Amino acid sequence: RARLLTRVDELVRLVPDYPKPGVLFRDITPLLADGPAFAGVVDAIAQAAPEGVDLVAGMEARGFLLASPVAVALGAGVLPVRKAGKLPGPTAVEHYELEYGHASVEIHPFTVPDGARVLVIDDVLATGGTAAATVALLEQCGAHVVGLSFLVELEGLAGRDRLGDHPIDVLVRIP
Ligand code: PRP
Ligand code: HPA
Repeated sequence: RARLLTRVDELVRLVPDYPKPGVLFRDITPLLADGPAFAGVVDAIAQAAPEGVDLVAGMEARGFLLASPVAVALGAGVLPVRKAGKLPGPTAVEHYELEYGHASVEIHPFTVPDGARVLVIDDVLATGGTAAATVALLEQCGAHVVGLSFLVELEGLAGRDRLGDHPIDVLVRIP
């Protein structure tokens, strides 16, 4: 585990001033490109998952890349959580506020059985807006969010505070 965390640290690239001036962006593409490190990350997320996950929800776009292999590892289905207008209807929608303007996330509610146990996965927990909207969206569809898992948590942005008391698993915390 310590070795994996060191590899994740080494393989997440820091990009200053992307996508906006003042933002230090964590780019996970080098980690995705490293076979053993990627497998290690998927395994670590799957190991930490609660029992009895029916569906793994991944947020567009980088969440898809983690949610899919974790779903296979758990023997669960995968649920793409998409940005506005990407899914043919009928969809369930949740709107949320961004720093400038707003956004929305959508899923196909007919792929979520009532009471389904869902694990939510994304690469980065920043302000928590995307994750909080995803939780609200899943609950609106009758799902039970049994946990959330992130590769990286940017603790300074306090996204965790917007996620209620759902269990949260994080591989790398950045103060
Ligand atoms: C990033 C990241 C999370 C979200 C985190 O996605 O992958 O989904 O932002 O930010 P938040 O906690 O402040 O909501 P982005 O919107 O860059 O989309 P992309 O993966 O499609 O590039
Ligand atoms: N990296 C990836 N996604 C993000 C980041 C970041 O640093 N901040 C907010 N979303």
